[in-house]
Formats: sequence, structure tokens, C-alpha cells
Amino acid sequence: MTAPHRLEADRIAFAYEPGADVFRDVSATLEGGEVAGIVGPNGSGKSTLLRVLSGMLAPKAGGVLLDGQPVHRLSPRRRARTLAFLPQSVDPVFSLSAFEVVCLGRFPHAGTMGGLGPDDYQVAERCLRDTETEELRDRDFFTLSGGERQRVLIASILAQEPALLLLDEPTSALDIHHQIEVFGLLRRLARDGYGVAVVTHDLNLAARFCTRLLLLGSGPGLLASGPAHEVLQESLLSAAYASAIRVCDHPITHTLLVTAEAPPEEPE
Ligand SMILES: Nc1ncnc2c1ncn2[C@@H]1O[C@H](COP(=O)(O)OP(=O)(O)OP(=O)(O)O)[C@@H](O)[C@H]1O
Ligand SMILES: [Mg+2]
Repeated sequence: MTAPHRLEADRIAFAYEPGADVFRDVSATLEGGEVAGIVGPNGSGKSTLLRVLSGMLAPKAGGVLLDGQPVHRLSPRRRARTLAFLPQSVDPVFSLSAFEVVCLGRFPHAGTMGGLGPDDYQVAERCLRDTETEELRDRDFFTLSGGERQRVLIASILAQEPALLLLDEPTSALDIHHQIEVFGLLRRLARDGYGVAVVTHDLNLAARFCTRLLLLGSGPGLLASGPAHEVLQESLLSAAYASAIRVCDHPITHTLLVTAEAPPEEPE
């Protein structure tokens, strides 16, 4: 890793329609060494927040600085060398093999003629191994299952070798083995100095693998942010999800275990 990088959002607000803020007054930072989990109900603004943090959308108030520069004003190539963004869904437009999709992640590092060298292919191979996608390398991306595609896209983002990763629900289509593998990989990356922000609906994986959490609710602000034991509280979660949420200790992992109570059954 090179010099430490820092992404800083200062009291940002964003609205798709005038007068309807998705969020406002949100401040957050992302630095190397941490896995920040962004959680909250459907429509609470997690993807929008990640898009604003990535520079894809400009905030209507406040600012997002990447190493002191407004992120949405940086050139895509300059930004991509430091920051990678994995959207919630990606629709491929070209027919490419899985390996070619992973190699696309190397283009911010390519020479002026756009060519990749042996070092780039080595990085791509390593990212296939890290995501257990080697056996998919020659498959057409279009023909992969949802979870296989998701792992290949994670490999492509990793191949970009960004200092900071913004990942929108990277494990939503993954089986239990690959969920744990991907979150474990994110933790290892953070230990190696990368900074990771990850949106997830899996509060139990968030409790286990994230070093801190940001909770968005139905109102336009952060409901809570901090370590899992401060954010994953029954009262906060019950308000955020408009459900009776219970939190206890997981008997095996000894991290927090979150579950929603089922609505009472109608008498027959
Ligand atoms: N392009 C858009 N134009 C107008 N409104 C949008 C647009 N994208 C999202 N929204 C609205 O903004 C709000 C936040 O959406 P966002 O996708 O950020 O939520 P989310 O927390 O990521 O939800 P989910 O958990 O379902 O992915 C929602 O009310 C959504 O309908
Ligand atoms: Mg979303």
C-alpha cells in the first residue's frame, strides 16, 4: 500500500427531487484499516449515500473530499486509482469472459496506450483466487449465475487495487460459504491497510465483520453510527425497521445476533 488515503463526507445532503431529501446532515469518514458497514431498511438511502461518496452523484449541500479534493470533480481515471465502487447491480453490455471482466479492473493502471502487461494479468489471477472464481475464468459472464457474477465483479474491483472500496450489497446473492469468505476477505484487506465501506442487509454479518456501522432510517439522517454494540440496539433497530427486533449474543461466534419477531398468526 502507498500513502494512507481518506474519504471524508462533511454534512452532506442529497435529493433526487427538489424538497425530498434522501438524507441530510450526514458526516462520515473512511480510512484504511476499517470495514464500515452501512445498514438500514429498503429505500433508506444506502445506495444513494454510496453513490455520493463515490463521486457519481454530487451532494446538494456539504462536500465529499478524497484526500482533500472534491471527489466528484476528480477525473474518473484519477479517482479509480484510489477509490473503487461496486454498484448494487451491474448489467453487462459486452460479451466478455469472467477473466476479461476481472482485467477491466486493471485499466485505471494501464499505460497511455491502454495496454495491460504481465503484472496486470498476475494481479487479475490473484483476484480470481481470492474470490474462488478461477474455475469460472473462461466462462462467458452472461452465462454465470447471480452469485458467480457477483464474485467475478468483486474480483474485478479488487483488481483495481484501490485503497478505498465502496461495495453495495456485494454478498446479496452469495451462499453462506461465499458470504463468509467475502466478508473475511474484506476484513483481511482492512488489516492490510485498505478502507472498506460495505452496504449489507445482513445485520449478523455486519456485527461480526464490520469494525463500525452506520444506520440509516426512514427519516433523512443517520440514526446511529459507531461500533456494532452501540448501533445494533433493539430500540434503534425496531424504530429503523418498524418491527420488533431482538438482539442477543450468538452462542458460537459471540458476536451480536439480530432477529425480527414474526407478526402474530391469525387464528384459524
Ligand atoms: N434515480 C432515482 N430517482 C429518483 N428517486 C430515486 C432514485 N434512486 C433512488 N431513489 C429513491 O431514493 C430513496 C433511496 O434509495 P436507495 O436506492 O438509496 O435506497 P437503499 O437504502 O439503497 O434501498 P435498498 O435496500 O432497497 O437497496 C428511495 O426512496 C428511492 O425510491
Ligand atoms: Mg440499495
